[in-house]
Amino acid sequence: VKVRHLKRINLVGRFGDPTPNDPLVLEPSPQGIAMAIRTGMCPVDRAFDRFYPDDLRIVSAQYWTPLLVALRAAEWLDELQARTVVDIGSGAGKFCVAAAIAGRFQLTGIEQRPRLVTAARELARLFEVDDRVTFLDGALGEIPVPEADAYYLYNPFGENLFGSQDHLDEDVELSFDRYERDIAAVRDLLQRAPVGTHVIIYNGFGGQVPLGYQELRRDHDLPNPLCLWTKTHARGPWAGLLPHAS
Ligand SMILES: C[S@@+](CC[C@H](N)C(=O)[O-])C[C@H]1O[C@@H](n2cnc3c(N)ncnc32)[C@H](O)[C@@H]1O
Repeated sequence: VKVRHLKRINLVGRFGDPTPNDPLVLEPSPQGIAMAIRTGMCPVDRAFDRFYPDDLRIVSAQYWTPLLVALRAAEWLDELQARTVVDIGSGAGKFCVAAAIAGRFQLTGIEQRPRLVTAARELARLFEVDDRVTFLDGALGEIPVPEADAYYLYNPFGENLFGSQDHLDEDVELSFDRYERDIAAVRDLLQRAPVGTHVIIYNGFGGQVPLGYQELRRDHDLPNPLCLWTKTHARGPWAGLLPHAS
């Protein structure tokens, strides 16, 4: 597997947590950041996060995909010639927007919190990828998930298990019951998906990838493991050989 090494560049002039109005910060424009990404570089996350409102910027390290991860996933998706990608639990749109800048595919994000959908749409517009990125306002299990060549999951349901101090807000149901329902919904989606479907998982999703998928790529040199699975068999490779396989 060819692994291109992304050069990490510091597009922000000093350490700290700059805000868009900080006069001491060298402020790359969205176009400058996009150009750096397209020439194979990976800007620091805070250069990108600067375009979020303060309340979404300060939670980025905990909740949104790091740029390096989004760019690695985009590289894999382009290698596999994926044309459509769905991010289940797309948050403030960081994965979708960064991957759209780096890759050639169309993305759809599904997000249960309307205020994050609004921020994500604004980010896509700022980075001029809104012609290839769509955000759907709704929850998994309540709105249909579009069929796609690939699905992306960044531990979307973990928040159900966190204490309230680590909740993004209290605007949605967060419970162990919900956690189990959402994991079952993802497993069902992956079980129904046709052979050839890819799923990229960053830091797990709480469940097991169903039988029939094979892990084809894994990157351990990121803050958390990133894995790519591809459906190679309709059920398990041994379906039909085991008496109780279903
Ligand atoms: C860890 S964040 C990841 C955000 C985004 N994928 C990224 O990588 O930048 C998980 C997001 O999933 C959303 N989420 C969790 N459960 C969901 C569900 N059942 N339906 C839709 N969105 C959900 C949360 O609201 C949160 O914004």
